[in-house]
Amino acid sequence: MSYKIERILLSHEQIVNRSKEIGAQISKDYAGKRPLLIGMLNGAVPFFAELIKHIEGEIETAFIKASSYAGQTCSSSGSVVFTGDLNLQIAGRDIIVIEDIVDTGLTIKTVCAFIREKKPKSIAVATLLDKKSRRLVEVDIKYVGFDIPNVFVVGFGLDYDELFRNLPYVGVLDSSSI
Ligand code: IMP
Repeated sequence: MSYKIERILLSHEQIVNRSKEIGAQISKDYAGKRPLLIGMLNGAVPFFAELIKHIEGEIETAFIKASSYAGQTCSSSGSVVFTGDLNLQIAGRDIIVIEDIVDTGLTIKTVCAFIREKKPKSIAVATLLDKKSRRLVEVDIKYVGFDIPNVFVVGFGLDYDELFRNLPYVGVLDSSSI
């Protein structure tokens, strides 16, 4: 089966420009602080890499992965298992969680609950994409790259069946190829 991109929703240039704006906002909001940016594997990697280039001041970085329960548990919250940089000192820190997309909101809600258990000083979420119309739970997203309609998108970290993460843009996947 070969999959096709129906159209480009967000060009590489649009993503870079918006990342610059969010980076500048984070620089201002966290001036004089040393936030810990936690990227969500695997999808947020390209946005994370782009965003941090535009943040001025001291930051620290880490990555975690939230997967549906899969046998081997490192740390779990409900049916979600967390792996990655789990031995981080989170207590008392300003945390910014970096996501690729917030859809129903269930994943980011579980991630924030997991981090909140570790008593951070503050926690904020930055996402490249927000599909607000699909929300099932209320979540507070401080930095949104783009609000997008209810279409299945791939590229710039987002995948379909682990494909397309390497596209430099965000495209709509041809629904007839899914
Ligand atoms: P949630 O529904 O907010 O919990 O999002 C769950 C996950 O679904 C996201 O982290 C993405 O991995 C995936 N997802 C949701 N919408 C899309 C999409 O349009 N393209 C690719 N992945 C998506």
